[in-house]
Amino acid sequence: MIVDNMDLKEAIYKRQSIRKYDKTPLDSKTLDGLRTFIDNTRVLNPNIKWSYDIVGSENVRMLQRFKSPHYLLIFSESKENYLQNIGFIFQQVDLYLQSNGIGSCWIGAGSPKNYENPNPEQDFVILMMFGRPQGEIYRELSQFERKIICEISDTRDDRLMPARYAPSAANSQTWYFTHNDDGSYNVYRNKRRIRLNKKMDAWNQVDIGIALAHMYVANPETFEFSRDRPHEDLKNKVFEGSFTI
Ligand SMILES: Cc1cc2nc3c(=O)[nH]c(=O)nc-3n(C[C@H](O)[C@H](O)[C@H](O)COP(=O)(O)O)c2cc1C
Repeated sequence: MIVDNMDLKEAIYKRQSIRKYDKTPLDSKTLDGLRTFIDNTRVLNPNIKWSYDIVGSENVRMLQRFKSPHYLLIFSESKENYLQNIGFIFQQVDLYLQSNGIGSCWIGAGSPKNYENPNPEQDFVILMMFGRPQGEIYRELSQFERKIICEISDTRDDRLMPARYAPSAANSQTWYFTHNDDGSYNVYRNKRRIRLNKKMDAWNQVDIGIALAHMYVANPETFEFSRDRPHEDLKNKVFEGSFTI
C-alpha cells in the first residue's frame, strides 16, 4: 500500500462512514500494511499504553446489523486523555484506510465477543469496522452534513475546515475552537444538557481526538498539542487542550 500525507489530507474531504461491505477478506499484505501504518501513527499523549487487534465478525458483538470482514478492536489504559488519544490515533487509521479505497466506520455500539483480552491492564475502548465497500467509497464535499464554521469557532477561520469535516458519534460535532493572540487555538467540548447516554460522553471525547487528528493530518509539520497552557473557561464547555498549526 502506498501512502503519503497528501492522500490522508485529501481523504478528509471525501471520506464517509461505510456500513455495507463486500465480505471478501483483505489479503495479508494489505493487513500487514495497515499494521505498519498503525504502529507509526502520531499519538496525542505518549504516556498512555494502547493496543489493538484485527478480528473477524465471530469476535464482535454488534448492536446494529452491519457486517464487515474485519474489525479493529481498540484497547487503552484508562488515564488522562486516553479517549482523545484513541480518537487521534485511529482517525489517522480511518483516513489511511479510506485513502486506500478501503471502507471503514467507527462503531461505539459494539464490543468484543468470545475474545480474551491479552492486555488485561488495558480496557476495551471502541471498535472500527473495515473492508472493501459495497458501492462507492467517496462522496462529494456538498454531501457532508456538518455545522457551519461559525457554530464551531469564535471567528470564521478556513484553517479549521479539516476539523469541521471530521466524523463524530451520531454526527454530534461537539467541538468548539477559540483563537489565542499568539496564533494558537483552544479546543473545547460542549457539555451535554441531558446525559441520556453515559457512553455518549465517552464517545464525544473520542470525537475531540478525531477532530485534532484532522488538524494534524492537514498540518503535519507544525501541529503541536498541549493540555496545560493557560486558557479561558467557557460556560457549558470543557477545555480539552490547545494546539498550534
Ligand atoms: C466515536 C464514534 C462512534 C460511532 N459509533 C457508531 C455506531 O455505533 N454505529 C454507526 O452506524 N455509526 C457510528 N459512528 C459513525 C458516525 O455516525 C458518523 O461518523 C457520523 O454520522 C458522520 O458521518 P460520516 O462518518 O459519514 O462523515 C460513530 C462515529 C464515531 C466518531
